[in-house]
Amino acid sequence: MEDQMKAIRERIEAAAASVRDSKALYQLRKQFLDNKTGEIPALMKGMRDLSAEERPAFGKLVNALKEWALDFFTGRDAELKAAELAEKNAAEQIDVTMPGRPRSAGALHPNTLTANALIDIFAGMGFTVFEGPEIENDYYNFTALNTPKDHPARDMQDTFYVSPELLLRTQTSAGQIRVMENTKPPIKILSPGKVFRSDDDATHSPMFSQMEGLVVDKGITLCDLQGMLDVFAQRIFGEDVKTRLRPSYFPFTEPSVEVDVSCFACGGKGCRLCKGTGWIEVLGAGMVNRKVLENCGIDPDVYTGFAFGMGIERITMLKYGIPNIKMLFESDVRVLSQFAE
Ligand code: DAH
Repeated sequence: MEDQMKAIRERIEAAAASVRDSKALYQLRKQFLDNKTGEIPALMKGMRDLSAEERPAFGKLVNALKEWALDFFTGRDAELKAAELAEKNAAEQIDVTMPGRPRSAGALHPNTLTANALIDIFAGMGFTVFEGPEIENDYYNFTALNTPKDHPARDMQDTFYVSPELLLRTQTSAGQIRVMENTKPPIKILSPGKVFRSDDDATHSPMFSQMEGLVVDKGITLCDLQGMLDVFAQRIFGEDVKTRLRPSYFPFTEPSVEVDVSCFACGGKGCRLCKGTGWIEVLGAGMVNRKVLENCGIDPDVYTGFAFGMGIERITMLKYGIPNIKMLFESDVRVLSQFAE
């Protein structure tokens, strides 16, 4: 009997000697100690077949073997786990004295900087921001702005139609109608957003951004428009900049004007930027057409208003000397990182 126990003990020791990790040791432990399938519990079950005289001595030996095996496996397991932990720690060691990998900070897109600067300026004059939808219906984008179907002014903007009635808005002016329909004067809103036109060259892109402004109240005149534009031009392009209004045409304003600023590069003497004229065109504007006010249920004999609309990319390009509008949409960080504030 003792030899039998000794043999098992030796087999356990021999097998354990080649076990390299705690998982394999666990399997070995099961082979000998598992209550259902292990060899040592099997010996205990076999005791039934022994004679009554043999049983106590055998039982004692098996119990001793079991005690020894439990101790043995517990001890080996602790050793292996300690070694495994040490190995893991060594692999995960970090050198805290190593220099860090610097990450460059992101920055706002130059067009966002311009939009924010514009909102800042006009918010200071009491404007609030209204954002209309990018997919508009024909009524808000054209008809209500005094540009019915077949109106020749529709050709001024090549439109992307989604369906006969729905289109990608060609101008943030559409937002004017949405505001006037729902708000009683006094109205003073700024409406920034993306607009879309089938147009593509160095200074035009099929998608670009506009900033619309609208003021409606009793007694609003063209002088109010120019006074406010002076503030805008000086804050964006510099204290010495002057504005000039030229007669123009937009269906939704009467009279309509084109607004120029004196060239901030040459001070008005004439240079490449202003093409020798001393002036740079920056936006369209005018007094809100009576018909547009009527379309929105505002009495044009009581209220008057002015509106203006500018291309944000155009202002960005002028302000930062960017020659091609595509540079604003290519997301090339070598270009964009130059404008971080
Ligand atoms: N919507 C015009 C455009 O896209 C710009 C414009 C001109 C807006 C005159 C206005 C305005 O509000 O009064 O070219």
